Amino acid sequence: MNRPFVIAVASEKGGVGKTTIATNLAVYLKALREDLPVTIASFDNHFSVDQMFALGDRPENNIAALLEGHALAELVAMGQYGVQFVASSRRLTAPAHPPAWLGRFLHAADLDGLLILDTRPILDWFTEAALLAADLVLVPVKDRAALVNAAALRQILAEVERADRIWLVPSLVDPRARLSAEVRVHEFLDYAARERDYQILDFYISKSPKVEGLASGFSSCIRPVLTHARNTAVHGQLKQLAEFVLARFDAGIVNRGTSPAGLTPGTEAAPGRYPRLVLECPLCSHHSASHGGHFYFDLRSRRRGFIHPACFGRLLGDLTQDGADGSVDLIALTIDGPGLVGPECRLSAHTFDSAGGLFGSEEVELRQRPEWQNWLVMMTGRTLDAAYRELVLINSEASPAGPHLGADAERNFAHKRRLVARELRHAGLF
Ligand SMILES: Nc1ncnc2c1ncn2[C@@H]1O[C@H](COP(=O)(O)OP(=O)(O)OP(=O)(O)O)[C@@H](O)[C@H]1O
Ligand SMILES: [Mg+2]
Repeated sequence: MNRPFVIAVASEKGGVGKTTIATNLAVYLKALREDLPVTIASFDNHFSVDQMFALGDRPENNIAALLEGHALAELVAMGQYGVQFVASSRRLTAPAHPPAWLGRFLHAADLDGLLILDTRPILDWFTEAALLAADLVLVPVKDRAALVNAAALRQILAEVERADRIWLVPSLVDPRARLSAEVRVHEFLDYAARERDYQILDFYISKSPKVEGLASGFSSCIRPVLTHARNTAVHGQLKQLAEFVLARFDAGIVNRGTSPAGLTPGTEAAPGRYPRLVLECPLCSHHSASHGGHFYFDLRSRRRGFIHPACFGRLLGDLTQDGADGSVDLIALTIDGPGLVGPECRLSAHTFDSAGGLFGSEEVELRQRPEWQNWLVMMTGRTLDAAYRELVLINSEASPAGPHLGADAERNFAHKRRLVARELRHAGLF
């Protein structure tokens, strides 16, 4: 039995490009990976999915039947461009089950490949169900309001500890639009998103009159960008988005399978105030949570834990001159995942003083230091194949016995974390 990798495209804000992204993404994914089944379904009643993909007669059943528990594989029809689709419904009624039901249902569905769910511009049963079912959530943002709205979606995922599945996609971007002489709108969006600890793609989907024209007019068909707007910037951007999704899908398979030999992600403590506390030291794998030590935090997964002082010395010893300096207050490790910089990851270590000033940066040659791979897996909870842009922060001062830092130290660390992330961004290092 297979289960689909579910991608939800969601935003409470209307008209941000959800449907355009969801439908075109399906076409690009299929074009890039011909042998991978791609299926799309929509909880909206606009029939855009049907207008792009339907071939011939309307299928007998539609998404309403899925909500009644009909087998997904029976509702899926083969559509245009090799994309499978579930027909939309004019009226959907929320089932009596809680929204988490959909995830269980889809995960037990005998459907292979990728399933894209387009959602309504409202946080109703259907959107919540799609979020909870998703392995990856794409949230198009075109302005500050859409960014602010994303908080409600993140909250739903944070409650089930899946906030790391959300990625913001700057959409409908006019690359020339400016907030001021110095700041372009999309640069502001990127900055504001990272300030709020969101993962945001480092490319965007441009606003294009030609793309807008594909979905307007009197035709009952909506044409994809791939076939009818290839000469626009959006063509390359959607391809990039599809490549990003495929990288997450491939990484998901690695994570769902067995880890490479010797790589263990560590044990996370039972849910509490800090549910992502890792009990073991990432370097030696012996218990460290209740002994204290050098606190570390991974921004994306929000995993946290402690490195034994002796192990920390080993880590510092691997770094060149910066690490030896007694005034180093914090070490930031940035990882550029495969795909961003080539077939392999790039790891850099940056050192900071207590005011958040950058001392120096150096690259850590992962091939010459294989043990770093395991340390990073322990700290981030993911294999490096699944890395994209990661930031791990490590305090260079040891904290007294854990497992928690204490309220003051916690606030201080959060403050430093923001300073350091900003400094790295300004220096073009993250
Ligand atoms: N890249 C783009 N360039 C120009 N116009 C676009 C682009 N993407 C979407 N549009 C247009 O913007 C409008 C809203 O797009 P879309 O329907 O995809 O948004 P949505 O978030 O699904 O909306 P809703 O919340 O109503 O479901 C449509 O008219 C669409 O054609
Ligand atoms: Mg829509």
